[in-house]
Amino acid sequence: MGRRALLAGVGTSLLLGAPKTGMRVLSSRPEDLEMPMEGFSTWITPVEKFFVRSHHYTPDVKLADWKLSIGGKVANALTLTMEDLKKLPRVELVSVLECAGNGRGLYEPTMAGLQWEYGSVGNARWAGVRLADVLRKAGVRDGAIEVWFDGADVPVGTQPEFQRTIPMKKALDPNTLLAYEMNGAALDPSHGFPLRVVVPGWAGDSWVKWVTKIEVRDTEFEGFFMKTGYRHPGKGVTPGVAVDPALMSPVTNLNIKSVMASHADRSEVKPGPLKLTGAAWSNTSPVVSVEVSTDAGRSWKAATLGTEKAAFAWRLWEFGWTPPKDAYYSVMVRARNAAGEMQPLQQEWNPSGYSHNVVQAVRLNVTAKPSAASATMVHGDFVAPPAVLNQSCLGCHTVEPIQQQRMSRGQWEKEVEKMQRWGAPVKPELKDVLVDYLAKRYGMRPIR
Ligand code: HEC
Repeated sequence: MGRRALLAGVGTSLLLGAPKTGMRVLSSRPEDLEMPMEGFSTWITPVEKFFVRSHHYTPDVKLADWKLSIGGKVANALTLTMEDLKKLPRVELVSVLECAGNGRGLYEPTMAGLQWEYGSVGNARWAGVRLADVLRKAGVRDGAIEVWFDGADVPVGTQPEFQRTIPMKKALDPNTLLAYEMNGAALDPSHGFPLRVVVPGWAGDSWVKWVTKIEVRDTEFEGFFMKTGYRHPGKGVTPGVAVDPALMSPVTNLNIKSVMASHADRSEVKPGPLKLTGAAWSNTSPVVSVEVSTDAGRSWKAATLGTEKAAFAWRLWEFGWTPPKDAYYSVMVRARNAAGEMQPLQQEWNPSGYSHNVVQAVRLNVTAKPSAASATMVHGDFVAPPAVLNQSCLGCHTVEPIQQQRMSRGQWEKEVEKMQRWGAPVKPELKDVLVDYLAKRYGMRPIR
């Protein structure tokens, strides 16, 4: 068992990098932080507001020890320092980075995984070198099909390594970068210092952080995060039903999406003019329009798009509206891209909750007499945690990633078994006690 990894997880509360306050903490270690809704009001997302997604603990990389190796199907294997890398032409671009699992927490029925809502997305200015320039220097040999990346991060316990590949065509795309800067400064440790992959238009699973090794391959990589994780059926499947990963493909292109950030769902507003605002983004095809409906989708009007734009960036939008009478409104927003793709009105389900992009509906109660704040919904009954939770589950991470789940007993059993495979010490005679507790305390929420 990864005793060392377990111990390493305890006691070290050291978090590297810039302080990040106001973020929704899904897990403090490994670090998973969600951007608050106000992040959708600026074109460039400041680093301290930018969402963080990490499968392993954040490595403390020292530039003096860092090197990038490029090998595999190349004519000249290379080892580069940051100084070598910076001799190649510098390229800068603004791009959205969105986690494949953004919106997972909004799926019905719920599934295991970090329960992101809207904010595992951000828009930053990235600078670095073209991956194609580095590959050209190494000389890609005939028969190469994909490029593999590994970072300086190491798995927790017996968790699989986070290693990913992108197809050769995407690797050679002039917009695919190895970035050493984010918003004009060296990358923050949480965002991959000193080097990360930038794949504009594609979901974050391809944007490997802390890159140390690149390999050009002539066979398909079989690693967990390619063959099991980050796969989508490419169509709607029966909600709640498992799909064989072999029948799914890796998540690549982002989905066209828009978010209204100025008003929270089910909030109350006073009569009078309102300014609705938010952001919209897409994949390699840019956003061309954002429309708002204030009558639950019966009619749509164009929102005004922000002036700041770039090929892969998000677009801010605003819409002025004076509610005609005091009523309960369903305000909806939808975006369309140049390729004609539009957000759906119903979210199709997929087993891991990827690529959520249903038209968002924000319910607003327009009233001159605001009521007392409505009670927050409480999920599950409070049940005192059994000692086995502490003994088995809190060695590598805190209770945060557990608390946000809403799962059936069967799903919890699978999740506990996954953690056992990664090294969680669960005494066989206590497994049922643990699963019963988790299912009761963090049970499935009723389908709305
Ligand atoms: C050996 C270390 C380790 C132990 C012990 C451990 N976990 Fe985890 N767990 C992890 C890691 C690492 C992640 C983050 C995985 C990721 O982001 O890819 C995680 C993530 C999770 C998540 C988020 C969803 C997911 O699957 O990524 C849940 C829920 C969870 N753990 C539950 C538990 C429960 C319940 C226990 C006790 C049976 C437990 N963990 C014990 C390592 C551990």
